[in-house]
Amino acid sequence: MSRTILGIAGYYHDSAAALVRDGEIIAAAQEERFTRRKHDPSFPVNAINYCLEEGFVDAADLDAVVFYDNPLLTFDRVVQNACAGGPEGRRLFAQAAGNLLGDKIWVNEHVQRTLGTLGREGRVLFTEHHMAHAASAYYPSPFDSAAVLTIDGVGEWATTSLGLGHGRRLELFAEIDYPHSLGLLYSAFTSFCGFKVNSGEYKLMGLAPYGRPEYADRIRDHLIDIRPDGSYRLDMAWFGYIDGMAMAGPRFAELFDGPARAPESQITRREMNLAASIQQVTEDIVLRTARHLRRLTGEKNLVLAGGVALNCVANGKLAKAGLFDGIWIQPAAGDAGGALGAALMAHHGYFEAPRARPAGAGDAQRGSYLGPRYSSAEILAFLDRKGYRYHRITDRDERLALVAQALAAGKIVGWLSGRMEFGPRSLGARSILGDPRNPRTQATMNLKIKYRESFRPFAPAVLREKCAGYFDYDGDSPYMLMVAPVREDRRRPMDTSAFEGGGDDMMALINQPRSDVPAVTHVDYSARIQTVDRDSHPEFRALIEAFERLTGCPLLVNTSFNVRGEPIVCSPQDAYRCFMRTGIDLLVLEDVLLWRSEQAPLPDDEDWRKTYELD
Ligand SMILES: [Fe+2]
Repeated sequence: MSRTILGIAGYYHDSAAALVRDGEIIAAAQEERFTRRKHDPSFPVNAINYCLEEGFVDAADLDAVVFYDNPLLTFDRVVQNACAGGPEGRRLFAQAAGNLLGDKIWVNEHVQRTLGTLGREGRVLFTEHHMAHAASAYYPSPFDSAAVLTIDGVGEWATTSLGLGHGRRLELFAEIDYPHSLGLLYSAFTSFCGFKVNSGEYKLMGLAPYGRPEYADRIRDHLIDIRPDGSYRLDMAWFGYIDGMAMAGPRFAELFDGPARAPESQITRREMNLAASIQQVTEDIVLRTARHLRRLTGEKNLVLAGGVALNCVANGKLAKAGLFDGIWIQPAAGDAGGALGAALMAHHGYFEAPRARPAGAGDAQRGSYLGPRYSSAEILAFLDRKGYRYHRITDRDERLALVAQALAAGKIVGWLSGRMEFGPRSLGARSILGDPRNPRTQATMNLKIKYRESFRPFAPAVLREKCAGYFDYDGDSPYMLMVAPVREDRRRPMDTSAFEGGGDDMMALINQPRSDVPAVTHVDYSARIQTVDRDSHPEFRALIEAFERLTGCPLLVNTSFNVRGEPIVCSPQDAYRCFMRTGIDLLVLEDVLLWRSEQAPLPDDEDWRKTYELD
């Protein structure tokens, strides 16, 4: 008998839905991609409808609907937090409770209203938040058994959980509870350095290579007590998130040489050093915890999820440390992935369905290409209706040769191909692509497409078997979750003599060619790698092969298909709009090519910059 389960994450940030049938992942998508509202926290009506359509399933036929955390436990934390927080805490409580009472507590009602049903069991199932993260890491992994580590800001209470997956069973046996949280510690530094909490963490990680970890000892001496097994306690006197709105408390300024950096103001040497310092502390905790887990469980493999698992620099260090034979990280490691974990947990935990990964089968994440796809017929109907000029080239070799030629000539390509990615990284289904060898690619992509001046390089998508020819890494990294060094023989010396600190200096440094693939090489010669194998996305793979045939270079610059502040594009309409609003030269929609030079300007589009908070 077939069993179909819908998983839902929502109400906090990054709402999402996922559909699992007989343990197989059928579909998963984030709500923001449909509503075009970044990190959309609302009940994921659009994502749910998409998942049901993709699975050809009526809501009435769902065997279960599962929510990714337990709102009553979260409520319990909010109440206790308020009691501990004094008058300010009570004000926060009113706000948070309003949220919870208004939305989360009524999950059943929302589901009923949206679906007209609660599944055959007649009620919504709930997993605990970290269990959902853990399930999203373990069940799709290629391993029969594995140690499990989840680290995020906060679930109901847990902020770090240790567990063990074996066959269909998954247990969490130790946890660190709120307010002690590595995720929130990292977020406190994110906000203190002037970046947005819950989205700027990636920027802070990208800033770290410019700095020296000069504040690491101060962090260890005052903010956090780290034990040899990786467990830790924060000294809450330094933080603001229990009794105030700020993540970092007012005393951060005492310890870290002055007040917080104002958002969008110049980045100085201090922020670089703070970024390097908190990165070092984070890596230290992750490594100690992993070592402890290895000793406790004796497992050869490790799986990871939770927002901190998106710290690909720490992941790279973890892989290099060789503590485990295999590491698998859920690509949707943030809360969106909880939808998938919740559904898988219900299948194997609640319904007790066995789990067996055939030997050598790889993971069950399907390349994380789990979102909507658009057929050529749909694309042509859209383009014809709008009267846009296009060229359909059905011969694949001919088509990809043209795209490769454009890339080699320095053109920037918007690329929509196959099912949309689940998770925050673009992996060649909704990507903006460029030539990594060209010293101008990085600046062009930043200024003409993303409308920003960024101190971070882009990521390379490299043919799996050619990875070791460019990077000191010869493993799989299909989800762009590992950072590794560029090989020494490809590096070029950098002139750092003029580098004093922030602003123009940083840009001068990042704009110096640092290797023969400068657009993807960071100032510490590291790169955030996506390896592209033969099976996951044949069309994307074939494009890189075509580029290699033409140029000898087996990698492309791969960045997300959006402008700054916008969710990654989903539909051909989204892609066309982004193409026309930016300096993308060539748009590829499956087997259809559109040249920028042949398009008429978009009418009535002058206000779009405001929508995405570019300024
Ligand atoms: Fe989480």
